[in-house]
Amino acid sequence: MATTENKTSFQRLPCLVTPINYHIRLAPDFKKFTFEGSQSIDLKVNESTAEIVLNSDKLTIENGADQCNVKLPNDNKTINIKEIKYNVEEETATLILAEKLVPGMNAILNLEFSGELDKNLTGFYKSRYIGPDGKERFSAVTQFEPTYARKAFPCWDEPAHKATFDITLVVPVSDNDDKMVALSNMSVKEENRDSQKRRVVKFDRTPIMSTYLVAFVIGEYDYIETRSKHGVLVRVYTPLQKSEQGRFALDVAARSLDFYTDYFQIPFPLSKLDLIAISDFSAGAMENWGLVTYREVCLLVDPSHTSTSRKQSISLTVAHELAHQWFGNLVTMEWWTHLWLNEGFAMFMEYLCVDHLFPDFMIWKQFVSDTFLSAMNLDSLANSHPIEIPVGHPSEVEEIFDDISYNKGACINRMLYHYIGDENFRKGMKLYLSRHSYKNTQTEDLWNALEEASQKPVRRMMTTWTKQKGYPVVTVNCQGSNRLELTQEKFNSDGQLSDADKTMLWAVPVQVITAKDVQKPQAEILLEKRVETLELGSLIDLQKEWIKLNPFAMATYRVQYQQEDLFIRLLEEGIGQQKLDPADRLNLINDLYSMTLAGRKSSDVLFQAIGSFRNECEYSVWTVMNVILSKYNQLLYGYDFHPKFVEFGTKLITQKVFGEIGWDPKPSEPHLKTLLRPLLINRLVTFEYPEVMKKCHEAFDDHVAKRKSIPADLRSAVYRAMSSQITDEIWEKIMKLHDEAELQEEQMRIQSALGSVKKPEFIERVLKFAISDKVRSQDTIFVVASVACNPSGRRTAWEFFISNYELFKSRYDVGFLGNALIKSLIENFQTEEMAHQIEDFFRVNPNKGWDRSIQQSIETVRLNAALMARDTEKLAKFFQ
Ligand code: BES
Ligand code: ZN
Repeated sequence: MATTENKTSFQRLPCLVTPINYHIRLAPDFKKFTFEGSQSIDLKVNESTAEIVLNSDKLTIENGADQCNVKLPNDNKTINIKEIKYNVEEETATLILAEKLVPGMNAILNLEFSGELDKNLTGFYKSRYIGPDGKERFSAVTQFEPTYARKAFPCWDEPAHKATFDITLVVPVSDNDDKMVALSNMSVKEENRDSQKRRVVKFDRTPIMSTYLVAFVIGEYDYIETRSKHGVLVRVYTPLQKSEQGRFALDVAARSLDFYTDYFQIPFPLSKLDLIAISDFSAGAMENWGLVTYREVCLLVDPSHTSTSRKQSISLTVAHELAHQWFGNLVTMEWWTHLWLNEGFAMFMEYLCVDHLFPDFMIWKQFVSDTFLSAMNLDSLANSHPIEIPVGHPSEVEEIFDDISYNKGACINRMLYHYIGDENFRKGMKLYLSRHSYKNTQTEDLWNALEEASQKPVRRMMTTWTKQKGYPVVTVNCQGSNRLELTQEKFNSDGQLSDADKTMLWAVPVQVITAKDVQKPQAEILLEKRVETLELGSLIDLQKEWIKLNPFAMATYRVQYQQEDLFIRLLEEGIGQQKLDPADRLNLINDLYSMTLAGRKSSDVLFQAIGSFRNECEYSVWTVMNVILSKYNQLLYGYDFHPKFVEFGTKLITQKVFGEIGWDPKPSEPHLKTLLRPLLINRLVTFEYPEVMKKCHEAFDDHVAKRKSIPADLRSAVYRAMSSQITDEIWEKIMKLHDEAELQEEQMRIQSALGSVKKPEFIERVLKFAISDKVRSQDTIFVVASVACNPSGRRTAWEFFISNYELFKSRYDVGFLGNALIKSLIENFQTEEMAHQIEDFFRVNPNKGWDRSIQQSIETVRLNAALMARDTEKLAKFFQ
């Protein structure tokens, strides 16, 4: 377990007085970018006290007796507030009352307050957009998770303090009054005008819910609507005159809602569900109950400009947020330690749902190459953390919205789902969700429900996965003709085990497939001890046939085959002759890759094995190959044998698969082929394969001359190719495309492609562009990251970060954007000297919200250095 040492001492709010219902009225001002608010909160007095402590951040609470007091309606009495003490670090306000409150009292806290519409995309903030008239406009929107409701109204801003909310919004007078919408979690109850002729919109009371799920939006939007099969009104709000771009998401949303309603057998409890595209938005999407907010690129589809992979990720994002409507909103984690209950589950459910809605996406195959891979990669670092982790201060909470809570969380759910089966899983979910509706839970509550439903040792098994960081490698030793000896130990990416690591054990559901039947496991065991034997009986003769563990990469462990010849047969027949399922092929190569990074195998052996993929045409397998090629391209850049490596990679792609896939989309080809094409072309662009570079040039020229537009799926590759050969003339053309693009997706695509420029003066130019007004703050980091991932830009990107440190810190000091930035900036370096330099820099210029990412990335740099020290010579020999 992570220790709590070195952490800011942090205390949760006292529970002497807690909220039952909030009446909140908020009035933003779009000229001054401020807002005024008033609220009355019905309180429950649990213990006698003359102090009320609640969260408040960057708000000014009026302290006049008329604006701020506690009313006791039963006694017809008002208690004054003598003093308000703010604690900036803890983000609290303590109200000192003139008299004590005692349990049983019916008390109402009245407050008036004001604040600024935030610039950093949190709390109640302003979002900028360009109206159809070409003029700049603003809307006021919210992002409260995890700890920003306190920036919009004083409140008990912890997930366990559930209450109901009566929200009223006052719409500022505008020249476009009829297009101004005011939205919140619930439907509109009534609308009036106040003395200043402003529209006053009152919403229905919410169910009992957590503060982080409250939301409101005031601005100009158009919308389209439908009804789900179960009768819920579903609307998608878009920028003005773009409502048709919401059509795809509307359909996905309505169908997902039905899917979950049927799956959990619990109706959606609200009368409407809105999805809205917000132009300035830091995350991808946010599951506010009944009013789900999205980045534009995560919601809007323009048929001629939206790529297939974008559409797929929109469907996953919509499905993800709708899963939260049950998992997170109806039943909520008690504290952020259990964040994974929200995110790991939503991430698992989004795949289940999308698989149901779009079977042709083959989305589970992609799960292994995306989610599984990144979880396992991060979780082998010493600086990883257990899924359940004690967190306190908001900056620590923000940090755990990471690949462990999301991806590893989703992986262990998938493992469990597979272990207990769909029927038990459904039963358990229904039990859990109905038992804890409108309440809060801990991880144990979920295990209990699933254990009850399945009658399997769910809790015993799953705590080994949530309370310890990391995962095991299982070594298989074939004994005789039909016995396997299985040994587990923690898998560490540096290949070293600490004393604590040596004591760790997991409950691993091990399954074995054989050459005879690669679809159906022939033997299984729940491996809980360090060493166990598995008798395969007469099923198999190990002298003659091969076996593979962990079919479909269903469980979160790696496998090392003790017998070299077994592994070679797996490569030859399983991969070379493609007898294994794609998920198993990619699982094998990915295990070998991570063994290589950890020094258990050497890089030349890895590349030898990669050679067996000469016939490979599966998208998911190529995703992994691409990860490996990309990593080594980073590492080998600058070595004299780098061109030989490029040649090897190019040949691997061009000898078969690229010929099959080709440049032009084929009519009605399978979804995964459509995804494979841009992946291959992008890789060939990185390798500067002349034939593809030429195609890209032609396509770009036709596009710019408006003769023929580049298919959306290939735009990114083409823009990257052009950037890599940038000249002033090309720069001007790309900028023109950028400035004329109306869809955020197209703008982002161009911005990130610019990271591929190679000439030093252009690298500087791209970095300056990244922080200019042309790039939204939420997108800047992706541009900087794309430069940092380009070997010729890596160094300059880091120096640019240092010289603009204050800017980056002020914009991204907490939250996952900053953490993503840190990782991309650091991770690709590969010398001890750089690791040192980076450590020194952050020692002098610390930022709490990035600590874990800094540690993880520096660890990766040292691993890179160690890998190169071990393997450079072998690689040189291999590629010569
Ligand atoms: N609850 C999160 C949004 C969030 C992220 C809030 C970080 C606060 C901090 C939401 O459900 C989510 O997970 N969004 C993802 C998209 C999803 C498809 C993985 C995101 O924003 O990337
Ligand atoms: Zn989520």
